[in-house]
Amino acid sequence: MLAEKLTVPGVRARKGQGPKIAMLTAYDATMARLLDEGGADILLIGDSLGMVVQGLPNTLPVTVEEICYHGRAVARATQRAQVVADLPFMSFQVSAEQALHSAGRLLKEGNAEAVKLEGGETIAEQVRRIVQAGIPVMGHVGLTPQSVHAMGGFRVQGKSEDSAARVLSDAKALEQAGVYCIVLEGLPADLGRRITETVDVPTIGIGAGPHCDGQVLVCYDFLGMYRDIKPKFVKRFAELGDAIVDATRRYVTEVRSGEFPAAAHSFGMARHKADGEPTGAKPVIDAPPPAYGPASDEGP
Ligand code: KIV
Repeated sequence: MLAEKLTVPGVRARKGQGPKIAMLTAYDATMARLLDEGGADILLIGDSLGMVVQGLPNTLPVTVEEICYHGRAVARATQRAQVVADLPFMSFQVSAEQALHSAGRLLKEGNAEAVKLEGGETIAEQVRRIVQAGIPVMGHVGLTPQSVHAMGGFRVQGKSEDSAARVLSDAKALEQAGVYCIVLEGLPADLGRRITETVDVPTIGIGAGPHCDGQVLVCYDFLGMYRDIKPKFVKRFAELGDAIVDATRRYVTEVRSGEFPAAAHSFGMARHKADGEPTGAKPVIDAPPPAYGPASDEGP
């Protein structure tokens, strides 16, 4: 049985008192259902889907429509976790009006409960406008992947004192603009701690050390399925990539040898007495069939 739905005030209340927030990304209903059942607090439809789902080298081409499409699937399968959707590149940078319009779409068309956007002081006005409209906003500072070209790659930020001071003031600007929590990505652990101790809203780290109020990982990373890049901050909690390759090899072998499908996976013919007469077969299926095919050949 899943516990109560985690709300935005519920996330805010974790600051200081815990328990730490365990956030993961999700992009489809099957994964979302499993992560929700496992007790993840927040499911993020991240624009990382451009890389791990679409196979792109970065997140820049992802659109609001794509986030909404994946958001509907995730929200449909999620009972307890909070569902947050990313505002993709160029869906909020142009103006506060554009940001509000895009954020509204993520709630109306993507069934998200909150939105996340990358940036600090320069997008504080956008955050303010979205929050004023009653839409909860999660901030994201430090390594902001939508600025990959400006940063010269996916690089740890805040290593020098100047850079650290900039990230800290970005986090403060977001707090003042009304965010309910902030993702800290790719920062030295000491800076992660400083920001966490400075702001009054929870911080959720990814490669920002152990002192944050929570952690987030990309679901394909923590399950060992995305094997193109393995950043230092990723811990694989399973090796599903290896398991999938192994299962595929066994499937290919059994299909080629004829071992699969066996009788247990095959349907028989209905035994009609004559056309139009009842078959005598049990007309009720015990379990509802999956939407994509019959569970049994005993159906009407
Ligand atoms: O897009 C994403 O998945 C993210 C998380 C890694 C925080 O922004």
